[in-house]
Amino acid sequence: MHPVNILHRKLIVAWKSYNSDSGEWSATYKKNIELADHKELVEALGFDPDKVTAEVIAEAYEITGYLFDDGAIIFYNVGFRIKADGGRIQNGRQRHALNEPGHKTKEVILEISRAVERGQAIYSKPILTVYDLWVLGFSNKFIWKCPTYNILNNFNEHVSSNHLDIGVGTGYFLDKCQFGTGNVNIALMDLNQNSLDEAAKRIERYNPVKYKVNVLEKINIDTDRFDSISLNYLFHCLPGNLTEKLIVLDNVDHLLNESGVIFGSTILTSGVNTSRSAKALMRIYNKKGIFDNSTDSLDDLKKYLTKKYSSFSITTHGCVAIFSAIK
Ligand SMILES: C[S@@+](CC[C@H](N)C(=O)[O-])C[C@H]1O[C@@H](n2cnc3c(N)ncnc32)[C@H](O)[C@@H]1O
Repeated sequence: MHPVNILHRKLIVAWKSYNSDSGEWSATYKKNIELADHKELVEALGFDPDKVTAEVIAEAYEITGYLFDDGAIIFYNVGFRIKADGGRIQNGRQRHALNEPGHKTKEVILEISRAVERGQAIYSKPILTVYDLWVLGFSNKFIWKCPTYNILNNFNEHVSSNHLDIGVGTGYFLDKCQFGTGNVNIALMDLNQNSLDEAAKRIERYNPVKYKVNVLEKINIDTDRFDSISLNYLFHCLPGNLTEKLIVLDNVDHLLNESGVIFGSTILTSGVNTSRSAKALMRIYNKKGIFDNSTDSLDDLKKYLTKKYSSFSITTHGCVAIFSAIK
């Protein structure tokens, strides 16, 4: 069996460990993984199961999370490298704020990265799951310190059965959230056709409508208004300072019913708790253009929501602000 398929199944075990949220992720993973599964994965990756323990795999998974972004592998794209001599994960001059991985862990990280990349073209579904795991699972929990269930809870609290999602990504939240009973009307809005197609396919059971739109510009589409609008992890990707990007809220105003709710989340750099690894990764992401949030502050977000809405709420978890507002 292709290592990516096996990895995919193991990652589901890992995901379950992650979702259980009972303290240390890797400890739960070690408890959940079956010995036979472990052997199969290690052999598929080309290692001797007697030499690569569940601890090594757990550590490798965790560290490999630092090497991924947006489904692409940073390791190959921006020159992360694992130095054979020191065993340190490096980005240019910067040593990554991680425990130094052991020699076997390094080899496993490399092999997982290669297996995922090899499989990327062929195995779109597993890779989609891998993307969710790295970005929404690992990064949110270990780097941004905002486990994904916080964002999902906000989604479940505010989503209606007449909903517009903006900046759809892989469609994770729409797939996982609970809409209640009755007819569900979902619209997807994104600048990127691939994201639109991927998310639409994932939630095809709801028969979503797609809008390819740049939300930084005035939006002119023919649709009825929505009772809820979500914007998750969109603002930190948009160019400009936060006040400039929040113009998106003005641009979508006419799409929200008077009694509707708008909600979402964004990664900030000031006014929030930013771990050392979050700072390091944000610097890289900002440099690479994946994020543009180096001046995004909680203060600016609060000011904009105060000015624009009759009532709003913001909570922070790590460096993520989760918000909701009504007109
Ligand atoms: C990081 S993803 C967030 C995905 C998803 N909401 C989540 O939380 O997992 C950001 C999404 O915003 C979209 N996006 C970026 N800039 C945009 C723009 N100017 N207008 C519309 N969509 C945009 C991207 O294509 C991508 O799908």
